Amino acid sequence: MQSFNDIRLILNTAQIMSLVKGGPLQLVTFDGDVTLYDDGASLIPSNQVISRILALMSRGIRVGVVTAAGYEEAKRYNDRLHGLLEAINSSEAITPEQKRNFIVLGGEANFMFQFNSSAPHLLESIPKEIWALDEMRAWKDEDITELLDIAEAALNDSVEAMRLNADIIRKSRAVGVVPKPGTKFFREQLEETVLAAQKVVELSDVGRRLPFCAFNGGNDVFVDIGDKRLGVACCQRLFGDIQGINTLHVGDQFLSVSGNDFKTRMVCTTCWVASPAETVDILDEFLELAATA
Ligand code: IMP
Ligand code: MG
Repeated sequence: MQSFNDIRLILNTAQIMSLVKGGPLQLVTFDGDVTLYDDGASLIPSNQVISRILALMSRGIRVGVVTAAGYEEAKRYNDRLHGLLEAINSSEAITPEQKRNFIVLGGEANFMFQFNSSAPHLLESIPKEIWALDEMRAWKDEDITELLDIAEAALNDSVEAMRLNADIIRKSRAVGVVPKPGTKFFREQLEETVLAAQKVVELSDVGRRLPFCAFNGGNDVFVDIGDKRLGVACCQRLFGDIQGINTLHVGDQFLSVSGNDFKTRMVCTTCWVASPAETVDILDEFLELAATA
């Protein structure tokens, strides 16, 4: 009998094989935590995924990191991704044009940066007019504030009800519950917090007008404005309307209720990984098959 993980890996391989035969693969988007690096860690120069991403880019494939981690400054993304950014910068195997094919989309679908070797921190902020979908441009600031207020109240209720040793973090496009230093939440506490926030926001008027994403990040819970369906779609748009059949998203959060990679299935093909080592494995599978295709 096959276990759940066997089936997940078989489907990943099937997806890779069909992209090599069909596709062609033009864009790969990666989630950050757990997919490219361990939860809460950074992409350091010794990370095995770097050489594989450079190999994809040298084939002209566009690469995006579509992460929930939402920062408005390039420096914060450089802190998380510096090993990869420096490797792209110094690589002689990829052309300067191919280097521009690397982007980061943070906060699910809120802040886009493109590789630029002369920009501070190697990333240049790209104005929303260039990449945001029409439906996103219609979002109203009042609605964003109202949705985050409702989500914050719901998260606060969970913190109080379960007496979580936590802080609430409010950002321009997100609100989250994060543990105080040294605290590890139980999975049940995280899931209960997500489900409660999801329901409360979903039932509000503004929650029906504005896409949002409530998810369990492993040891925190965030409610973000937007979701990764929009995130991947924005990457596709930036690179000239790349189609779903030519796009692959690799992520670790594909549970239908509490996972923030799940919604990418609406706009592209996907691989579900459980660790950065599995991401390396599926890229190796692709590169080996593509080399002999
Ligand atoms: P991902 O796996 O790359 O999507 O990153 C998810 C993690 O990013 C979360 O579990 C949080 O620890 C962290 N994070 C930092 N800022 C934000 C934010 O604004 N929204 C959601 N997650 C955030
Ligand atoms: Mg992740």
